[in-house]
Amino acid sequence: MEGISIRHAVAGDARQIAIVHVDSWRATYTGLIDPEVLSALSYDSREARWLEWIAEKKSNILVAQKDDDGKIIGFCSSGPTTDRDPRFSSEIYALYLLPEYQRKGIGRELVRLTASQLITDGFNSAMTWVLADNPSRKFYESLGGKVIRSRAITIGSSDIEELNYGWDDLKLLQSGRARI
Ligand SMILES: CC(C)(COP(=O)(O)OP(=O)(O)OC[C@H]1O[C@@H](n2cnc3c(N)ncnc32)[C@H](O)[C@@H]1OP(=O)(O)O)[C@@H](O)C(=O)NCCC(=O)NCCS
Repeated sequence: MEGISIRHAVAGDARQIAIVHVDSWRATYTGLIDPEVLSALSYDSREARWLEWIAEKKSNILVAQKDDDGKIIGFCSSGPTTDRDPRFSSEIYALYLLPEYQRKGIGRELVRLTASQLITDGFNSAMTWVLADNPSRKFYESLGGKVIRSRAITIGSSDIEELNYGWDDLKLLQSGRARI
């Protein structure tokens, strides 16, 4: 991961996080979800949401940034489980990299540092949701995540299956040794 640093997000990052979010969504979900949802995404509205989330300080938001020009190329947000799942105390809410920076180990490092932060915050287990048709689910499997259950969700006019991946022990993710 030479030339890339990972740090906590600050308010001034909201625009760049929004750009990563929208661009990665379009690259990842074209063909998987309702195209109208993707075309309706906007940098401005995403930036406004990210500004709120950063200001609220309810979640951990880590960004991966290029050392040479400061460009943000990925992010990971996490915090308490949103659906009060009794088995997993924390959740990775969103994890996205720009397409040209994928498969270089940056996602693994973002998750490792996210796990460290979650442990510091008192959590011991984690889960995340991923579309069943998203090839990136293999990423979570490579980190030792196990499918716990699935659910049907609706995004725009698309009915979609989501899978819930769980880790009983966050220390596995923190160590970076979770490859199976
Ligand atoms: C998912 C994501 C964050 C992973 O980060 P990454 O930096 O690309 O992944 P890494 O390089 O750390 O990959 C670690 C391992 O995970 C597995 N993996 C990652 N992405 C994979 C894919 N698309 N298909 C199959 N295996 C994958 C591989 O085993 C990989 O090791 P290898 O490259 O040595 O084979 C990134 O690919 C991404 O942003 N994808 C698009 C957005 C997305 O789907 N986000 C998740 C939404 S729930």
